[in-house]
Amino acid sequence: MEIKLAQNYGFCFGVKRAIKIAEESPDSVTFGPLIHNKNEIERLKKNFNVGLVEDIDEVEENSKVIVRTHGIPKDKLQILKEKNVEVVNATCPFVTKPQEIVEKMSEEGYSIVIFGDRNHPEIKGVMSYAKDPIVVLDVAELEPQLSKLKEKVATVAQTTRKFEEYAKIVNFLMQHKKEVRVFNTICNATFENQSAARELSKEADVMIVIGGKNSSNTKQLFRICKENCPDSYLIENKEEIQPLWFEGKKLCGITAGASTPNWIIEEVIEKIKKIKV
Ligand code: F3S
Repeated sequence: MEIKLAQNYGFCFGVKRAIKIAEESPDSVTFGPLIHNKNEIERLKKNFNVGLVEDIDEVEENSKVIVRTHGIPKDKLQILKEKNVEVVNATCPFVTKPQEIVEKMSEEGYSIVIFGDRNHPEIKGVMSYAKDPIVVLDVAELEPQLSKLKEKVATVAQTTRKFEEYAKIVNFLMQHKKEVRVFNTICNATFENQSAARELSKEADVMIVIGGKNSSNTKQLFRICKENCPDSYLIENKEEIQPLWFEGKKLCGITAGASTPNWIIEEVIEKIKKIKV
């Protein structure tokens, strides 16, 4: 069986940057998981004593706190400052961007529409910079809230969303409002990984998607692969591989989410290579 990696996969710029920042800030804690990958979080703990706190009340005064790639809400940042902690900001610049945009556009009197998942940490952060934002996943959610919006609307998208779906929301807004300012905040890294996964999953007869099961971009990759290759599997590490998946297969495609470190990908490849098909 041939094993082929997608043309683009794995760590994006923002995650590489956050890990480097964490490695350069030993003996600290991250507020919430730095990235969506528990294996990498464990490695940072083991090798650099970078711990994890989930609750802001657990952050000790005068400690060193790393703000994760997805960013944190503005009020939480304020609490950290009040606790006199040294804040090391590892928020991806592509996430800082929509935060800045919604803050500025709110100040300029625009209603804010955010396309994304209101429960995702990135969106919780972005929401905190906007005045009364409306957060929607599709037009069906937006429609009943239309009357809450002013005639001037600014819109941003969660970095990991699909362009096609964002365009539907923008299109709908354009039909109902006089002024719509559209900011393309979708991250190219995700897009590149997605299109490479799409291509590979068209030719592969089994696809392995490696990444955190709570990572939204990994789940998107998995969905795309599944559309083209029904035998697609989402795994977090080599332990989850089942030899049965590869029986009679000729081409195994591999891709990985934006928070998946190379060492995990390599381990998976090594294990698949040893399977007799
Ligand atoms: Fe940043 Fe894009 Fe990665 S938003 S964290 S570079 S997927």
